[in-house]
Amino acid sequence: MCGIVGVLGNHEAAPILVEALKRLEYRGYDSAGIATINDGHLDRRRAVGKLVNLSDLLVHDPLPGKAGIGHTRWATHGAPTVCNAHPHQAGPVAVVHNGIIENFRELRAELSEKGFSFQTETDTETVALLTQYHMSQGAAPVEAARQTLARLHGAFALVFLFDGQDDLLIAARKGSPLAIGHGDGEMFVGSDAIALAPMTDRVTYLNEGDWAVITRNSVEIRDANNELANREMRTIQIDSARVDKGGHKHFMAKEIAEQPRVIGEAVRHYLSGDGNSVTLPGDGLDFTKIDRLTMVACGTAFFACLTAKYWFEQLARLPVEVDIASEFRYREPPIPGGTVALFVSQSGETADTLAALRYCEGKADKIISVVNVPESSIARESDLALPILAGTEIGVASTKAFTCQLTVLLMLALKAAEQRGTITPERQADLLSALRALPSSLNTALEQNSAIARAAHKLAEAKDVLFLGRGLMYPMALEGALKLKEISYIHAEAYASGELKHGPIALIDKIMPVVVLAPRDTLFDKTVSNMQEVLARGGKVMLITDDAGAAEAAGEAWQTIVMPHVDPVLTPILYAVPAQLLAYHTAVAKGTDVDQPRNLAKSVTVE
Ligand code: AGP
Repeated sequence: MCGIVGVLGNHEAAPILVEALKRLEYRGYDSAGIATINDGHLDRRRAVGKLVNLSDLLVHDPLPGKAGIGHTRWATHGAPTVCNAHPHQAGPVAVVHNGIIENFRELRAELSEKGFSFQTETDTETVALLTQYHMSQGAAPVEAARQTLARLHGAFALVFLFDGQDDLLIAARKGSPLAIGHGDGEMFVGSDAIALAPMTDRVTYLNEGDWAVITRNSVEIRDANNELANREMRTIQIDSARVDKGGHKHFMAKEIAEQPRVIGEAVRHYLSGDGNSVTLPGDGLDFTKIDRLTMVACGTAFFACLTAKYWFEQLARLPVEVDIASEFRYREPPIPGGTVALFVSQSGETADTLAALRYCEGKADKIISVVNVPESSIARESDLALPILAGTEIGVASTKAFTCQLTVLLMLALKAAEQRGTITPERQADLLSALRALPSSLNTALEQNSAIARAAHKLAEAKDVLFLGRGLMYPMALEGALKLKEISYIHAEAYASGELKHGPIALIDKIMPVVVLAPRDTLFDKTVSNMQEVLARGGKVMLITDDAGAAEAAGEAWQTIVMPHVDPVLTPILYAVPAQLLAYHTAVAKGTDVDQPRNLAKSVTVE
């Protein structure tokens, strides 16, 4: 998953390209580069590592030119080196690419036979070389690009820039998102509207298979059949101001601290005017006509779905299947009548989740999405997109988006329960009241920050950590393990605590910390029994519980973190906070890159 950008401007392109790339760094940051038409000729600057390294290079070695392309990389083929950094150039053409060219080996073999040699290990270089070949056979730039695109298999977004062509970009989309930004006598291309926001709010999204011939005053779009196509130009409401850290040391810390506010906004957004029910946008949903939900997502969003399964089944008595997106469509699951497919995605651009959504098209009765980016591909391809209103989330480790996903999913489950008559008005009122009070409970949980930081300093010495939870705390244990491993690089895994005796208990020793998530709910006693099994073998237990739970079980724990009491149904949203803070402070103690952890990207737009 990489970020790509193109500019046909009336000002120097380099600073515009770099600013747009800063807004795309969430897509990857292994290397970055730009190319411009400098005095009529293609010229490049590239740097390995974070975008700041490219910015520094440009200070010492500026790159003039008002037409250009840029790229920030998450390495798919070839190590993160300058040589493998985009833009890739072959003779008169330079290319930036997001995605994977699945037949690039076949194309490389063909080009080798034609006498071409390769400078890099990347699939993208093949695109540039193939275009150069077509031009060597007499094709003009546009035709050469068209012939090249016709040969490519896989998922990609591409932008081409040609030597001597100061008023031409070719953009193409197949699988990975791409947007065209309309300026005044200028044109822009970007992986998403966020990148284009400082230049324009007038955006045209390319459809699957589209390619476009772009000049400063024209855009000609052709579809997958090479027919001229009209695509809607939208005015996008995106805050063009760059998000800052608000005085926090990291974006992740800021976003953890924002949760009381943004969750309060999400609750208010979906509450009916009288506060006694849940209202959905558009035509809403009629859960009396739904027999089952199929929920699909990746990573943290998948754990939000796992949590919601308990809510839909317990509150609305609605059967729910939950799948990891990368497995879902390859399983070719039957989608019987009466099924609604629900996709959860912070970015709305995760390739596996988008592909799973497309598998359900024409099969599921309805396609719903719960997303943080209303203009995203997943939102635009849904029958009903439910925004989570978390605001821009920069930290690669998802925090406020996760708890806002949970909040919206719980309110959706309450709507289902109300329509299906499986909840009493009193119980519904209780839960809606608890949701309104949740921001206050979250603020109380955040007050444990220092205690959690102290606990984290001890956790930072661990090589392995085990998370345990039952019921609604089982998905939270999975999320806590993911948070810890993805930003502190400590190996962590999670089990339903009832599974301990079925194997994982063999891991217990005097060294490996075991984090037990256990509010004093109906499953508390059983989880405490599991905790005792760990303690009986000399295990070190970090207990995350509430006052009542601490009074009963904290005595023997290595460490205890105490949360405020909330209705057991809401505990997943509350207990996400200590799990996030534990991971955050452990990573800070270890000195890892909290906001941009190694090997990761915020939005996984390749399979
Ligand atoms: C979460 O902390 C991770 N960064 C990752 O698992 C993420 O949740 C996953 O890639 C799904 O992303 P999405 O919500 O944008 O689809």
